[in-house]
Amino acid sequence: MVFSGVAYTLYAAVVFAVAAHAHPSQPTKIIHEKRDVVHGQWNKVGRAAADTPITLRIGLKQRNLERAEEFMHAISNPRSETYGQHWTPEQVAEVFAPSNEAITETEQWLLGEGVPSDHILKTTGRNWIKVSTTVGKAESLLDTTYNVYEDGGARLVACESYSVPAAIQGHIDLVAPTIQFDEREAIVTTRGLKRRDEALAPKFKKLPHGRPEADSLKNCSEVTTPACLRALYDIPKNVKPVKGNSYGIVEFAPQSYNQDDLNAFFTVYGSGKIPNGTEPIFNGIDGGYLSTESGSGIRGESNLDLCYAMSLTYPQNVTLYQVGDSVVWNPATNNNFLDAIDGSYCTTDGGDDPVWDAVYPHDDTYNPGAYTGQPMCGVYNATKVISVSYGSNEDSRPANYRARECAEYMKLGLMGVTVLFSSGDTGVAGLRSQCVKPDGSYTPVAADYGRFNPMFPGTCPWITSVGGTALPAGKPINTREVATYDFGSGGGFSNLFPLPAYQADAIKSYYKHHDPGYNASRYNNTQQVRGYPDVALAAQDYITGVDGGFMAFSGTSASAPTFGAIIALINGERLKAGKGPVGFINPVLYAHREVFEDVVEGKNPGCGTPGSARSRDGIP
Ligand SMILES: *[C@@H]1O[C@H](CO)[C@@H](O)[C@H](O)[C@H]1NC(C)=O
Ligand SMILES: *[C@@H]1O[C@H](CO)[C@@H](O)[C@H](O)[C@H]1NC(C)=O
Ligand SMILES: *[C@@H]1O[C@H](CO)[C@@H](O)[C@H](O)[C@H]1NC(C)=O
Ligand SMILES: *[C@@H]1O[C@H](CO)[C@@H](O)[C@H](O)[C@H]1NC(C)=O
Ligand SMILES: *[C@@H]1O[C@H](CO)[C@@H](O)[C@H](O)[C@H]1NC(C)=O
Ligand SMILES: *[C@@H]1O[C@H](CO)[C@@H](O)[C@H](O)[C@H]1NC(C)=O
Repeated sequence: MVFSGVAYTLYAAVVFAVAAHAHPSQPTKIIHEKRDVVHGQWNKVGRAAADTPITLRIGLKQRNLERAEEFMHAISNPRSETYGQHWTPEQVAEVFAPSNEAITETEQWLLGEGVPSDHILKTTGRNWIKVSTTVGKAESLLDTTYNVYEDGGARLVACESYSVPAAIQGHIDLVAPTIQFDEREAIVTTRGLKRRDEALAPKFKKLPHGRPEADSLKNCSEVTTPACLRALYDIPKNVKPVKGNSYGIVEFAPQSYNQDDLNAFFTVYGSGKIPNGTEPIFNGIDGGYLSTESGSGIRGESNLDLCYAMSLTYPQNVTLYQVGDSVVWNPATNNNFLDAIDGSYCTTDGGDDPVWDAVYPHDDTYNPGAYTGQPMCGVYNATKVISVSYGSNEDSRPANYRARECAEYMKLGLMGVTVLFSSGDTGVAGLRSQCVKPDGSYTPVAADYGRFNPMFPGTCPWITSVGGTALPAGKPINTREVATYDFGSGGGFSNLFPLPAYQADAIKSYYKHHDPGYNASRYNNTQQVRGYPDVALAAQDYITGVDGGFMAFSGTSASAPTFGAIIALINGERLKAGKGPVGFINPVLYAHREVFEDVVEGKNPGCGTPGSARSRDGIP
């Protein structure tokens, strides 16, 4: 310790002396973000030319984010006096906007280093400062080296570490483009191959005995129908429409539902109540469209989500937020969706990350049908319940990016919105069952080793993560449910987000009675991090209309919209009684474990571990 302390002081003094000599105006800088490993297939081609134009975006730290726990506790803890007193959008914008000091001091730094004032642009949302400059100037501002990286046909200008002035580091969230590398799989500029690494892509299979009867509860362990779900979870059948009650489902291109398939489903499984032709309310975002293509790869996810969201809540309206055009490179993300429902999250010229999020307008030269309009900002109201069946590996984007998105879910919670995400379909492993090697790179797809690879947004403490269960094979409807066995229901512990207070008792009890026994080389086992999922319910073999017939889909893609339907119905009852929506529900869920059934059989495998608890209820 002493040695390193001395060395540090010496080093700092040398740097300071050199800096003071060579560039009188250069402040002392410290490394702000650094990438340990460049995932995927990006190859460094060489240095970026100094005169290449580049627009730096400096994301300023919002204020009061460290008070998230306190704010959320106040409105969502059932024991709080202010439970349910949700905030207005104006309150949210005001409380979290960056300080004026952050803006002026950042601007002073740029001016001091010779950036002309007309190259510095402040956004109306106060969150971002844009700097139009060159690679050479950016290198000196950030004490870094920009390189060109190549992957297939795609090129990227990026660096692997950058620094900002020590004096204002506290104001800065992130600077882009810098260390953000894209790991999306398919990079094509023409139509054809389409694949998002984000989609959880539910597994599907042909029905073993033809399609089950609509009202029979005999085969619920084999095929899940709306009737099975109503019976399992006491979901009322004859609900009345409640004005103002709303439930939103989010889909990302190229996934897209088909109305004929919904019609066929409602005709058979709508209990004679859902009129043929019943549609979701269509809220298209940034070129959002309904595909004319067939196949379970295009229709499966969206049809599944809507068949169940709509049939379980009918006659409540279901709103479809259909996000993104057909451009595969730079496709729409959660942030593009969030911009459309919260004008303070985006800014007039886009507050998103230009490397990760879709930046509009898209160029339609190679992409007929690309969205050539402006990014959509605050154009729709958020429904009071939102279910999303898409996710990605927590570590596939920088920590700051994850934190910014997670904070937005916290704000939606403050405004009374319940946000649900599927927990994932690969147990403790990440997408495609990949795990993480000690150097941070991924294992091959079928490998049986490595660190657990948690999924986001499940690891964000301000959403409700929905996992999967199943009836044991061949068992009747009143049997205790077990963990999914068609696939590994996603779950585990975050590497980024600390343990939220509402989960502390549950985590303590988990480690006391069910410690899986893996050490720190597998996952963060300090008991001080966010664990997920929060709830789990039936997730196997949901019968769904696809391509004119029926198929059975398995995945937490199925359980999230079903849980959302239950919450939407609860909101409806509250609205009728003159109350507000439930909003962020986790503190209530954890405070009332008595209303849930503990799932004690089954496993959550991945990375070569079986994922079964060593002991149950403390009994070895
Ligand atoms: C229910 O399952 C049994 C066997 O498990 C099968 O023989 C029967 O056809 C199924 N019925 C329906 C309606 O799917
Ligand atoms: C459902 O949406 C339609 C069209 O926007 C609207 O007219 C109707 O009032 C809504 N129903 C309920 C129950 O909110
Ligand atoms: C539902 O309506 C469509 C037209 O909107 C029609 O083609 C189809 O035959 C109808 N299905 C049933 C079962 O009535
Ligand atoms: C959003 O909600 C507000 C308040 O209820 C309403 O005045 C406004 O018209 C809604 N906007 C949209 C786009 O539906
Ligand atoms: C585990 O999480 C805790 C709490 O967030 C953190 O302090 C610690 O550094 C993490 N451990 C590792 C090895 O990342
Ligand atoms: C973790 O456990 C494995 C096998 O049980 C062992 O080989 C490894 O050395 C342990 N690592 C740490 C950091 O304790």
